[in-house]
Amino acid sequence: MNITITKTTTPKAKPDESALGFGKIFTDHMFMMDYNKATGWTNARIVPFENLSIHPASTVLHYGSEIFEGLKAYRRADGKVQLFRPIENIRRMNRSAERLCLPEIPEEDALEALLKFVEVEQDWTPSSEGTSLYLRPFLFGNDESLGVHAVSNATFIIIASPVGSYYPEGINPVKIMIEDEDVRAVKGGTGYAKCGGNYAASNRAGERAAQQGYSQVLWLDGVHRKYIEEVGAMNVMFKIDGEIVTPMLSGSILPGITRMSCLEVLRNEGYNVSERLISIDELEEAMESGKLEEAWGCGTAAVISPIGELCYKGKKYAVNNGEIGETTQHLYDTLTGIQWGKVEDKFGWIVKL
Ligand code: PLP
Ligand code: COI
Repeated sequence: MNITITKTTTPKAKPDESALGFGKIFTDHMFMMDYNKATGWTNARIVPFENLSIHPASTVLHYGSEIFEGLKAYRRADGKVQLFRPIENIRRMNRSAERLCLPEIPEEDALEALLKFVEVEQDWTPSSEGTSLYLRPFLFGNDESLGVHAVSNATFIIIASPVGSYYPEGINPVKIMIEDEDVRAVKGGTGYAKCGGNYAASNRAGERAAQQGYSQVLWLDGVHRKYIEEVGAMNVMFKIDGEIVTPMLSGSILPGITRMSCLEVLRNEGYNVSERLISIDELEEAMESGKLEEAWGCGTAAVISPIGELCYKGKKYAVNNGEIGETTQHLYDTLTGIQWGKVEDKFGWIVKL
């Protein structure tokens, strides 16, 4: 793929790494590429970061034809930059594209785009403990007409943002509200796709939880409101009576790359791990009886995030006395160790620039 590069003439000053937060600061450039049904993907380019100009009737603005990804570039101690399992994000993006009738991108082209873009922006990868360069590829339908149908035109963009921790709590346990009113997704819907609409629809419950001091909601399944699904921006895992359990991939939850990596690490080390249905009744019973030893969320932005309190129908349950548990800490250390190049990558997950 031919990628043209136009460098900015007004580079920005790099931010203070101690106050990055999440997704508020953007780098100097972005990757863009256009799709038309007749010509396929064309005009791959890295250009100065700037506002977009799109037609007011553009499909994405009316019908939400949008998918996105999230992955990170990490700076190693030797100063070099590396990515964590980028091909998995590309494959998931193409599965999301298929669900939303958006054009897929050949894996090798998407990977080339990502790597070239990170090479251009690598100086923006922060080096302080716990920081990284968050990469946000996104793809949207861009027909200039109001008919509802699969699009003939689309745009693919990658932007980048130097980030610290997603939650202000950092690695400290977060409080999660179990949502019993709104649902996020149903089987046959778009739950397994990373599309913008899933997040728009989840904001109401998220806001209600935030008003009561909770970071995010834990969703129950959309049919029975009984089975645990996932948290707003991360998958969820529990340690119940020695068994590590996580909801199986049912079609309505996002197949997280961090989730998959945690399962591989744990199975490789001989932990007792199950992907299965977990009912709210089972979880409540485990919380009441003290069998719930640990709970944590996992995701690219959230990394491994211990859950210190769960609230269901107004009843509050402390998990592990509100402290990070042994397995949670072990997963955090192992995954971030591999990501930042401090722990040997025996799985072959790292892609160096
Ligand atoms: N579930 C949801 C709803 C998410 O937004 C995310 C974040 O991407 C995840 C799970 C975790 O996925 P991953 O580990 O691939 O980042
Ligand atoms: C990520 O972890 O990359 C996500 O996409 C979560 C997000 C919605 C902030």
